[in-house]
Amino acid sequence: MGNICAVGLQWGDEGKGQIVDVLAKRADVIVRFNGGANAGHSIMLGDEKLGLHLVPCGILRPEVNCVIANGVVLDPKVLIDEIEMLREKGVSVTPENLHLSDRAHLVMPWHIAEDKFREQGLGEKKIGTTARGIGPCYADKAHRSTALRVGDLAYADEFREKVATICELKNKVFAALFDAEPLDAVRIADEYLGYAAVLEPFVVDTSHLLHGSIEAGKSLLFEGAHGSMLDIDHGTFPFVTSSNSTAGGVAAGSGVAANKIDLFLGVAKAYTTRVGAGPLVSELHDETGGHIRDRGKEYGTTTGRPRRCGWFDALATRYAARIVGAGAVCIIGLNVLSELDEISICEAYEVDGEPLEYYPADLHR
Ligand code: IMO
Ligand code: MG
Repeated sequence: MGNICAVGLQWGDEGKGQIVDVLAKRADVIVRFNGGANAGHSIMLGDEKLGLHLVPCGILRPEVNCVIANGVVLDPKVLIDEIEMLREKGVSVTPENLHLSDRAHLVMPWHIAEDKFREQGLGEKKIGTTARGIGPCYADKAHRSTALRVGDLAYADEFREKVATICELKNKVFAALFDAEPLDAVRIADEYLGYAAVLEPFVVDTSHLLHGSIEAGKSLLFEGAHGSMLDIDHGTFPFVTSSNSTAGGVAAGSGVAANKIDLFLGVAKAYTTRVGAGPLVSELHDETGGHIRDRGKEYGTTTGRPRRCGWFDALATRYAARIVGAGAVCIIGLNVLSELDEISICEAYEVDGEPLEYYPADLHR
């Protein structure tokens, strides 16, 4: 099948999990390359719906290799809970079929705390994050000196020292800005080194592994998280996530060059949803919006929040398809609209009576 990357063309929750699950039949390797436990991908195990946040959707197929690559920010507790949940359901998860990058950054308790403090501080102006520590973790990745990666867990003494140094700094900042209780560095290091013992067999250089798979002629399927309109560069900033959820995220987030991908497959719903704050031009505040929410079961997989619903936004989806370089587009959820007598499609935005045919950078236009 060649190498395919599935990317959402809206604000996330386009049904990428279902598409990846179908394509996984023909893939040898499935790769997550961006985001973290803020993603929520649903797949069916028999009649049961499973929500996965970190483990790639191909895990239900024993012959498929699942990779969590370097661009992911990893909360080890969430990953371990997910592995245990899958094993309880009889799904085999072993170092043979799940591989975790040593370069992936660790989501630490201070990231989750900071995510919550910042959102609280913003009040009405909050972004509406999933409170999974995603933004603060990517921020520390950019800061470098306050970042920890999966590979650091292999060196216990050094890890303890780094946690102590970072905690000292975070405690000063958190006390000054958020009036927060101090973090306990020893307890946090103990907790994470406990996770390290469980995860260690899964940790590899995933870029090396992926290149080996390509050389062996295997088919790779990249599972994009979130959606193009949540991309930190191209989305509805600042109401976006903190990673590149468009095609550009693949090369940086996996170490596989863009010219190795044969097809970027855009995934969109026949209507639009988003969770959290930010513009949603075609939003429906009426009964029809409620009907779409109920029929489409539009409640967040990660936070359970009701999703905001609206008509298909062709301007946003066209813009996203261009950024992604979508060679094909898969439209999901037409059945959700089947009981409606009429449906609308937003073709363009109008500002002061003039159509706006490109996607604006902000709401001031
Ligand atoms: P999947 O992969 C829908 C949204 C959040 C919030 C904003 C920033 O399931 O399609 P963050 O926690 O990332 O800092 O939150 O981005 N968001 C998503 N919305 N589906 C997702 O992923 C999302 N990932 C992030 O609701 O508005
Ligand atoms: Mg989701």
